[in-house]
Amino acid sequence: MKLYQSPASPYARKVRICAHELGLDKQVDLVLTMPQQDDAFGKVNPIHRIPALGLDDGMILYDSRVICEYLDSIGGNKLFPASGVARFTALKQQALADGLLDAAVPRRQETLRPADKQSPDFLKSRERMMRQVTDALEGMVDQLSGVTIGTIAVACALGYMDFRFPGDDWRKGHPKLAEWFKAWEARASYLATPPT
Ligand code: BEZ
Repeated sequence: MKLYQSPASPYARKVRICAHELGLDKQVDLVLTMPQQDDAFGKVNPIHRIPALGLDDGMILYDSRVICEYLDSIGGNKLFPASGVARFTALKQQALADGLLDAAVPRRQETLRPADKQSPDFLKSRERMMRQVTDALEGMVDQLSGVTIGTIAVACALGYMDFRFPGDDWRKGHPKLAEWFKAWEARASYLATPPT
């Protein structure tokens, strides 16, 4: 399988951690992809986003949620609880964590624009959205149990904050989440997929 990705993408990291947790990482070849600079990538993924996964039979999957669920289906169904409260808890956690990233990545892009073109209101509103998610996660730490698509997604989102927004100091004010994250920071799949 070919994973179109870049090493800084937290969505791609989520896929890579799933592959590692499922023992599939050796079957996934990483293809460095910069969608904004590569028009031809539209033929791989018409919505022009990474990650995308090319299967050996030619099928292409996107986005990260679909790819993670596919990997789980061929890797023993360990990461997506099958049904009931456990399933919807994990899916909700993934939605929250991806929501944090959906604010964080545009915020990061905005900071790369010339200083006089940046919108302080936009930056502030994205920062506020991110804090609302970490506040919500702090209140539900006791539900962040086991290694599921939910806890993987949360670990990726917190890792992206450490990578791109260390000044936010998200651990301050979120002591339970910070304590919870320590186990992920020491986990093999997390250590094997650092953003660069
Ligand atoms: C980043 O450099 O922060 C980034 C790269 C790819 C996707 C998302 C974020």
